[in-house]
Amino acid sequence: MNNKMWAGRSSKEVDSRVNDFNSSISFDSRMYRQDIKGSMAHAEMLGDTGIIDKAESEKIIGGLKSILEDIDSGALQFDPEAEDIHMFVESELTKRLGDTGKRLHTARSRNDQVALDIRMYLKDEINEIIPMIKELIGVLCDIAEKNLDTIMPGYTHLQRAQPITFAHHMMAYAQMLIRDIGRFEDTYKRMNKMPLGSGALASTTYPIDRRQVCGLLGFDDITMNSLDGVSDRDFCIEMASAISILMMHLSRFSEEIILWSSWEFKFIELDDAYATGSSIMPQKKNPDVTELIRGKTGRVYGDLNTLLVMMKGTPLAYNKDMQEDKEAIFDAIDTVKLCLTTFIPMLSTMTLYKDNMKNAAARGFINATDCADYLVKKGLPFRDAYKITGTLVAYCIKNDTVLEKLSLDEFRELSDVFDEGVYDAIKLETCVNMRKAEGGPAPEAVMKQIEYARNAIK
Ligand code: ARG
Repeated sequence: MNNKMWAGRSSKEVDSRVNDFNSSISFDSRMYRQDIKGSMAHAEMLGDTGIIDKAESEKIIGGLKSILEDIDSGALQFDPEAEDIHMFVESELTKRLGDTGKRLHTARSRNDQVALDIRMYLKDEINEIIPMIKELIGVLCDIAEKNLDTIMPGYTHLQRAQPITFAHHMMAYAQMLIRDIGRFEDTYKRMNKMPLGSGALASTTYPIDRRQVCGLLGFDDITMNSLDGVSDRDFCIEMASAISILMMHLSRFSEEIILWSSWEFKFIELDDAYATGSSIMPQKKNPDVTELIRGKTGRVYGDLNTLLVMMKGTPLAYNKDMQEDKEAIFDAIDTVKLCLTTFIPMLSTMTLYKDNMKNAAARGFINATDCADYLVKKGLPFRDAYKITGTLVAYCIKNDTVLEKLSLDEFRELSDVFDEGVYDAIKLETCVNMRKAEGGPAPEAVMKQIEYARNAIK
């Protein structure tokens, strides 16, 4: 005889290989809190509506509470033989309460149960991830505040382009991270709908009160179609997308830190506690953390892809394919949290080599645009000013010098519009300080960006 809870129809014991293949307890047990809380709300509703006896409902709630406590304390271990967390909790309840325990699953299916649990679980995780992102933004603001005047080259095509400050660069990432928070908040909003009552797919004939369960569990509304309630995982996909985009930002940032800590740049040095050595090359100090973040970003994209492909061909409503949602989304969550946990202290402890940044900014003619702008302000059309400056740059390269070291005569050789004022106009400090348009690198403009970011993480 089949000894499964759903035994009845089946005359045979399920092959042990199928059992193992089918089982999800090894990974869905992490949702035990959400599963038990969902069951407590369901039991309360069953009692209040008279679907089951009020006294039995109270016994069930008490039994579930003791199971929760026992799992929390370690007194109760998950049974690896259980099919999934839902079956485990229910059979433990029945062990403890006898027949009363068997009444819990009235007017419910594992399909709406798992749809509930995963939503609750992901909501809890979003509530942990957002504060971590905020912490990172806070660290960026701290670094920026101390580096409003730290001039560095800004790049396009990884070629020195125009002067910016380290603060400006940090606050660019803060903006990306603020949008990341917005994406998690949006995801949260859409997953905040309570699916219990959808049943297996076609709701139920019992006079359930879905709104009561919704209120008890703190959802803002109920799902509006029972087929949809049990069968979409778009909220998992949205969350994996939000995580992927966040990882993409962390990965770009990591790539820059890798570049900046190379001898070729030497803009920064990671604290010894956040760098690693080589087993053979004694001189090495490697930015492994950032490389791992860059590498793990691909893995998270893989999780997103798993979910997208898993869903694309499944007919309504529930299909067992959907059990695969958990390992993918859990892996994405674990990975991004792990990355943030290491990235934040790594960033806050790194040393900046401001002189190297400044020296890099002083080479590469990043004040050439400003030289052209200077001529425009003197009345020249921009295209002419551009050409004159280009010719001056070529002259400098040929003579191994920089614009600010040319004599006034050399400048005037190309245009008699040049006067002593050019030296101030092309000074790096001037180039930065004059870019005070909102969003620009001038210290006063960056201060506003810091203020904006600090407000966003309040
Ligand atoms: N472990 C299952 C899952 O994660 C629970 C739902 C099972 N439903 C079913 N009809 N077999 O998807």
